[in-house]
Amino acid sequence: MNGARFPRTLGIESSCDETAVAVIDADGRVETHLLASQVAAHAPFGGVVPELASREHLKALPLLVPPALESASGEIELVAVTAGPGLVGALLVGLRFAAAFAWARRLPLVAVDHLQGHLVSPFLALDGAPARPMPERVLALVASGGHSSWYLMGPGGTAERLGRTRDDAAGETFDKVAQVLGLPYPGGPVVDRLARRGDAGAVPLPRPRIKDAPFDFSFSGLKSAAIRWIRAQGLQGAGAGEDVPRPVYDLLASFERAVVDQLLRPLPELARLHRPEMVTVSGGVAANSLLRRRLEEAGGDLGIEVVLPPPALTTDNAAMIARAGQLAWARGERQDPRRFDARPSTKWQPPGMRRNR
Ligand code: KG4
Ligand code: ZN
Repeated sequence: MNGARFPRTLGIESSCDETAVAVIDADGRVETHLLASQVAAHAPFGGVVPELASREHLKALPLLVPPALESASGEIELVAVTAGPGLVGALLVGLRFAAAFAWARRLPLVAVDHLQGHLVSPFLALDGAPARPMPERVLALVASGGHSSWYLMGPGGTAERLGRTRDDAAGETFDKVAQVLGLPYPGGPVVDRLARRGDAGAVPLPRPRIKDAPFDFSFSGLKSAAIRWIRAQGLQGAGAGEDVPRPVYDLLASFERAVVDQLLRPLPELARLHRPEMVTVSGGVAANSLLRRRLEEAGGDLGIEVVLPPPALTTDNAAMIARAGQLAWARGERQDPRRFDARPSTKWQPPGMRRNR
């Protein structure tokens, strides 16, 4: 598909607590990229409330779509929407909206897997440049609040999962450790900032392995060890005040290093087995500065090009959904807007995606 021109695409994302709308042009250039965050609406409840998420999406979509269309430089020719995985009510709001829009305008409609969206985000730019061409073989790490997996991406954006977390996702562990320390939600960006001031060798933490599954990860033992250490030192809630005690910085630096070690451990062997031309990382945790630096170093050691997404496209957005939609369209995928349902479970496998591991 490299070098091919695609239909101008409206992307819609509503799988969790972020309503996102974007338009990308025939070359995958991001023309508009709008977000309505629901963090404030869910904050009083200490987590995402599914019914509230659906209602917020219902309010936000009619407000975001008209300005997105106005700032596009031409007519929409394709509609791409996240069909799963995610909260079923939240997904249904986005996909009914997308289906109605496509039906009313007689436009083709494609269903996108949220993970396929993250996987293509490193190939997008926010400076008006077209989407980068995708090589034949890309090793891709997705690390977010809900997922941590390695994939092999093939021509045209198809993806096969090679390894995955057996318990928590990487972002979830950052959020949980931050919560015990009394730091604000989401924890990842705060941990990233505070860890820069700590000694990553100060607190010994385990890096558990999964027997007979060298490409899978586990984070729950590491998370529990960090929380036990925080409690043993009497540091619960210690990150909340003005004067954060020194051991908090050290714990966060040590914890961040252990998470990054776990995420990157499969890379050399996966690279040897699959001989990729490129390595990427995507998802919210792809904003982490240590992970970005360590991946660049690993790519340098292995002689493989590393491509990182623009920081603003690491978290959930609709530009990535529009791009994954263009690639799915080019593979011939289409949805009938009258018979189109959400696929909230990760068991759904769209034609371009294999999760056999
Ligand atoms: O991709 P995303 O926006 O939503 C999901 O699909 O889950 O990822 C959100 C996750 C949160 O757990 C957040 O703490 C984490 O990404 N995150 C980070 C950083 N920025 C966001 N984790 C580590 N370092 C960061 N700089
Ligand atoms: Zn996501």
